[in-house]
Amino acid sequence: MAEITIRVGDITKEDVDAIVNAANNSLLGGGGVDGAIHRAAGPELLAACVPLGGCPTGKAKMTSGFNLPARYIIHTVGPIWRGGEQGEAELLRSCYLHCLQLAEDNGLKTIAFPAISCGVYGYPLDQACGIACRTVKESLESSTCIEEVRFICFNDAIEKAYRKAMAQS
Ligand code: AR6
Repeated sequence: MAEITIRVGDITKEDVDAIVNAANNSLLGGGGVDGAIHRAAGPELLAACVPLGGCPTGKAKMTSGFNLPARYIIHTVGPIWRGGEQGEAELLRSCYLHCLQLAEDNGLKTIAFPAISCGVYGYPLDQACGIACRTVKESLESSTCIEEVRFICFNDAIEKAYRKAMAQS
């Protein structure tokens, strides 16, 4: 089975086949990790995103990584937290599933995720980490080419939440 690693860092620096972007429905950039990825990848990224025509919540689309060390960027749109009764958990799970499927379809071996929806979109961190860990573990059981999934945590508190969730999942 593939390796799952958890570490503190800036996802734009990760040297992997694909990093995941926590984008919005427009796919035209924003703040948080999305802004950081667009800044680091360069203006060609926006030009590549325009023809994609946006992305529904819970789905994912891929572009080149342009100036990033990562070869590709998988853009996914996490749910906005609205109290937990609006299908948020299923949508968040769907983000991880679609990203991993795109990686698998394209023969990618290494993929790095940020904590999708855990910033501006307000998803409770512990719950989001639980979904991330369970969904990734489950998907890797049937994956044929993914060798490593990295959870890149922007600070120590996020790393701690992932480690706890991984131990419990
Ligand atoms: N590397 C790794 N993680 C990061 C980085 C980074 N460079 N920068 C931030 N994070 P957010 P969301 C963490 O708000 O909640 C954007 O405007 C951050 O600490 O980036 O899915 C989009 O355009 C948090 O844990 O994404 C959307 O409009 C996690 O990344 C909206 O925000 C996600 O925080 C999406 O909100």
